[in-house]
Amino acid sequence: DASDIEKGTYPHYMLKEIDEQPFVIRNIISKYKEEDESIKLDEDIRQAMLDADRIYIIAAGTSYHAGLVGKQLIEKIANKPVETHIASEFLYNMPLISENPLFIFISQSGETADSRGVLVNVKEMGHNALTITNVPGSTLSREADFTLHTYAGPEIAVASTKAYTAQMAVLAILAVDTAKAAGIQMDFDPLQELAIVASAMETLTDQKEQMEVIAREYLSVTRNCFFIGRAIDYFVCLEGALKLKEISYIQAEGFAGGELKHGTIALIEEGTPVVAVATQEHVNLSIRGNLKEVVARGASPCMISMEGLQESDDQLVLPKVHDYLSPLVSVIPLQLISYYAALHRDCDVDKPRNLAKSVTVE
Ligand code: G6P
Repeated sequence: DASDIEKGTYPHYMLKEIDEQPFVIRNIISKYKEEDESIKLDEDIRQAMLDADRIYIIAAGTSYHAGLVGKQLIEKIANKPVETHIASEFLYNMPLISENPLFIFISQSGETADSRGVLVNVKEMGHNALTITNVPGSTLSREADFTLHTYAGPEIAVASTKAYTAQMAVLAILAVDTAKAAGIQMDFDPLQELAIVASAMETLTDQKEQMEVIAREYLSVTRNCFFIGRAIDYFVCLEGALKLKEISYIQAEGFAGGELKHGTIALIEEGTPVVAVATQEHVNLSIRGNLKEVVARGASPCMISMEGLQESDDQLVLPKVHDYLSPLVSVIPLQLISYYAALHRDCDVDKPRNLAKSVTVE
């Protein structure tokens, strides 16, 4: 049938979509680039970002994890306060809303009911809304004031991969555009740096055998797995844990490295896999310290570090990219390791039990 043709030679959509990420990033670069190499963005969106005194990012699932990275990017690059909220919680526990807020909805499908519920409410309150979505013309796109397209192409596998990296790429571009419009000087060119990211992604998608070995060694018999990171790496750990849960049904949790000792470390037993991610110099030593603490209690450590920070016994070294964009690269091995873990456990990779690609009920 048609879906077989679309999958081409790939056994699963998820693997195809993981592999497509370098192309998606290059596509985003070309769609957001003016002829003079500057950022191409709707003037109304630029103005709405400038006018906002605070940004509220609303999303669910993997898109929420992209929103956590988005907060970091917009605050660090554009110097504007941002809060990221889980869509299904927002209306039950509404934060104080600033005088001139801008709401940013991040949604692959543009159809998530939890996110739409918030959009309808904030529009009623008279606020501006921008939707970042892979489906322009979707409900969230039509009902918001503005849309930014993630240009990732259709994502079929239930577990989101390319939409997540595409969302973060667009958020980085948006953050820099806002900073420039506000007159903030910087030497970070997101379009150039994203091109480096695309190549780094390719290097990693070419290392599938290594990822399969890691999945086999660490995840073939375990019942749980922990992901630890600090700062921006922590957000990627949340996404890595979600991927593993979704498709392999291994109980997984992402933790801030320093928080382990306040509870989770009680779960560490002989052989418990702990994946640690270190892409930022300022957290490299402290996350390695956390890993040593769990190793002393029997954990099997899998250290993933970025080039320049690696030590000789690290399991995987990521090609160097700009610190701001490291999540786009560090997530690739986590996606692939989850994929192979699910495969080894005979799980239905593209259609995991109990999950839907887009959840249109609250
Ligand atoms: C569902 C999917 C997740 C996705 C979430 C949000 O739960 O299974 O993969 O992250 O919805 O979807 P959205 O389309 O709003 O990004």
